[in-house]
Amino acid sequence: MKNWTRKEFLKTTVVGAGAAIVAGQTRLYGQTAPAAGSANGDIRVAVVGINAQGAGHIKTYYDMKGTRLVALCDVDSAVLAKRVSETEAKGIKVTAYTDYRKLLEDKNIDAVVLASPNHQHSLQTIWGLQAGKDVYVEKPLSHNVWEGRQAVEATKKYTKNIVQAGTQNRSSDDIKEAIAFVRSGKLGKIQWARALCYKQRDSIGKTTGPQAVPASIDYDLWTGPAPLTAPRRNGPKGSVHYDWHWFWNYGGGDITNQGIHQMDVARWFLGEPGLPPNVMSFGGRFGYLDDAETPNTLISVLGYEKAPLIFEVRGLPMKAGMRAMDRYKGAAVGVVVQCEGGHLQISENGTVVIYDASNTVIQKLAKNTLGEHRANFVKAMQTRKVVNGLVAEAHYSSALCHLANVSYLIGAEKSNATLADAIKSDKNTTDSFARMLEHLKANNVDADTTKTVVGPLLKIDAANERFVGSEKEIVAAANKNHLLKRVGRGAFAIPVIKKDMVAAS
Ligand SMILES: NC(=O)c1ccc[n+]([C@@H]2O[C@H](COP(=O)([O-])OP(=O)(O)OC[C@H]3O[C@@H](n4cnc5c(N)ncnc54)[C@H](O)[C@@H]3O)[C@@H](O)[C@H]2O)c1
Repeated sequence: MKNWTRKEFLKTTVVGAGAAIVAGQTRLYGQTAPAAGSANGDIRVAVVGINAQGAGHIKTYYDMKGTRLVALCDVDSAVLAKRVSETEAKGIKVTAYTDYRKLLEDKNIDAVVLASPNHQHSLQTIWGLQAGKDVYVEKPLSHNVWEGRQAVEATKKYTKNIVQAGTQNRSSDDIKEAIAFVRSGKLGKIQWARALCYKQRDSIGKTTGPQAVPASIDYDLWTGPAPLTAPRRNGPKGSVHYDWHWFWNYGGGDITNQGIHQMDVARWFLGEPGLPPNVMSFGGRFGYLDDAETPNTLISVLGYEKAPLIFEVRGLPMKAGMRAMDRYKGAAVGVVVQCEGGHLQISENGTVVIYDASNTVIQKLAKNTLGEHRANFVKAMQTRKVVNGLVAEAHYSSALCHLANVSYLIGAEKSNATLADAIKSDKNTTDSFARMLEHLKANNVDADTTKTVVGPLLKIDAANERFVGSEKEIVAAANKNHLLKRVGRGAFAIPVIKKDMVAAS
């Protein structure tokens, strides 16, 4: 399979008309809808998927004004029983469900908060809307681009209810202020945005074959729209929970896990209302051999025309044997936005530091309102208007992670010298790659003998959300990838809301 060279990459970026189409198409839906509400005015909330993140959501609703926690749902009966007893210990009586579809039949529930694994998000969002519930859906919105599009289309079709995505940086007043600052032109034009996910991820260990599913888990329900296969992992979190993030059938690695937040912030700063004209990724799972499929080191370049968005994932520490992580211009998990006259550093908690060209701090923005995202969902339900965390925005940011992963997934191992040569005309990519090699060296990964998986530079038809181009074999492989489109499984087929999607099945 031939990889596109940097020159071809630059050629493919001359598709101005494509970008205009995107801009015209990406009207954001205000999602105004008629009021819901139960008898006494409290919004009756159910939390779905309650192991880790869902447990936090449950606590939020212990005392969230204007709401009442009325139901919990999990396909793991042990998790469900534990959360029900914790909730009852707080004096709150809830109905317990194993099957989300049964929960949706309950007329005494107004809203669902979804904290199930990624591969359930789009399906559960669409089903929730079809059942007349308001929905808070954790990030990422989708496991693949196509189902995310179906979720967006569902919000346009089922307008009685609202959906807020769990991309909580959208509730950061600091980021909003910083974006206004950049748009005012005080720092000149944006030259590039680098989103960083430098977050230590240990090996999950190696099994010798398919692993047993704990008896407490209904694995058919857990699998939902993904192919039904036995788990091939059994790390510290067991054979099912959490480590699904590192398997392509359910997650997308750290770019889709932690990284979706930083992807979303970076795209927001760039002011890009849709998908980029092209994408290329390279990386690998370095430093240890384990069951996980996704890379722990990844560089993806999303080739927006005005300024590129470069994403860097590092799961290994600063140096072998350490726990600390590297920082790039002060950020480990964060975003750096480079402008002509200075740069901004946006932290994981949504606070911002603005620097001038001589690296002097001009301003610090630290109102720290990111934690209000859940309360903003309640406001959205009360006013019937989503302000922070629009589904269309979550779709595009999630899709960027999927597109980046598709390039990686259809790539091939190359020597680092070959990769360096292919990207040498691009300063930003070369800089990211050079720092990646230094980082691997610090972790005792021999950069001379280690090969990197290099994905092709893929041209994107942003309006139709699919890959295009003259490299037929590459384009066909990319369009067939399940992170672009997966239709679901049996009773868990993703409802087709928009029929004319052209992505290959
Ligand atoms: N916004 C944030 O900052 C943030 C932080 C952490 C996690 N998350 C997101 O929350 C989600 C859950 O993460 P986690 O770490 O709790 O994962 P987890 O695997 O620990 O927990 C998921 C739970 O969902 C349950 N589940 C699976 N399928 C289900 C179904 N069909 N119906 C009901 N329950 C089902 C599982 O049994 C499990 O108990 C992920 O999508 C993750 O990306 C978001």
